[in-house]
Amino acid sequence: MDGVHPARDPGAPAAVAPRIRSVFAGFGGALPPRVVTNDDLAATLDTSNEWIIERTGIRERRIAADGVTASDLAAEAARAALADAGLEPEAIDGIVLATSTPDRTYPATAVFVQAKLGMTRGFAFDVAAVCTGFIYALSVADAMIRAGQARALLVIGTEVNSRILDWSDRGTAVLFGDGAGAVVLRAAEGRGDTAEPGILSTHLHADGRHEGILHVDGGPGTTGTVGHVRMQGREVFRHAVSKLAAVVDEALAANGLAQGDVDWLVPHQANLRIIDAMGRKIGLPPERVVVTVDRHANTSAASIPLALWEAHRDGRLRKGQLVLMEAIGGGLTWGAALARL
Ligand code: COA
Repeated sequence: MDGVHPARDPGAPAAVAPRIRSVFAGFGGALPPRVVTNDDLAATLDTSNEWIIERTGIRERRIAADGVTASDLAAEAARAALADAGLEPEAIDGIVLATSTPDRTYPATAVFVQAKLGMTRGFAFDVAAVCTGFIYALSVADAMIRAGQARALLVIGTEVNSRILDWSDRGTAVLFGDGAGAVVLRAAEGRGDTAEPGILSTHLHADGRHEGILHVDGGPGTTGTVGHVRMQGREVFRHAVSKLAAVVDEALAANGLAQGDVDWLVPHQANLRIIDAMGRKIGLPPERVVVTVDRHANTSAASIPLALWEAHRDGRLRKGQLVLMEAIGGGLTWGAALARL
């Protein structure tokens, strides 16, 4: 009967409602071509290649050319992610973009990316959670897909950190770099267990009492200037190790999974010593931890999607593997995400 649902046999078992989850469908990245080495920085700062490598693991970073903005890098990363997913921009329902170095105070950097991709539909907005930005953006996008508000989303982390660094401050100038990473998330239906592909859970935290230990000392509502990054490095380090360990435990426990179930740690890339400490905490050998900090330095919201892109491209990431992502940054904000590829 056209237009009328047939009556269900009262004796038949109720159909199990499929659960929607968000699956990684494509990865992309963009790095400015200009490489700046530690020795380049030591030419103008009281620092050395040896000090930077020993304390941070950083050897070089990419710096965007004048005039290249966060949306330029983001659009390049998004195009790569769309190509990897085999999708046209028109298939995308929205853009969730994390950045601390927006093109302008408003509109959101995400709308510039939307226009650069030639998209004429969907929504676009920014998320501000500094170095935890990608985890926050992923969490928001995942929730929208689970709620049925979108079927395909671009999630992007993009930064031109070089624009907010005080190039005379050796305590911060040596630590950061520019870049963008992007993923395509698509809705998929399944039973909802941890063996199926998709984001299993995300875990977000913030504690604004600690904003002073890592912040930018300007903004439209205070100084009227852009400002520069200021950091109490030792304090940030102390919080990073304890808070990341706790949020990793939280993510595994929420899914009834153990450390031994994790195939890859894809951490925020701030400092090799923090990354190594987290790898040891999870009991993963170094070859199961994706590291880009040596070549990219800290690209804030871009670091995790850039690391995902690199490990996907070189074939390290494979379908069915369990990936643990974690990050901490200004706010303080911190978080973790677990995903089955
Ligand atoms: N080159 C040479 N010396 C430097 C330096 C540099 N680039 N930066 C700082 N120093 C000096 C300091 O001035 C200090 O000198 P002093 O003892 O004469 O005062 C000395 O090195 C030690 O400084 P400290 O900050 O205690 O060093 P550290 O071992 O803690 O290493 C960081 C500094 C920044 C590398 C480290 O604290 C760190 O990585 N913290 C976390 C930062 C982070 O992850 N931020 C981003 C989070 S998203």
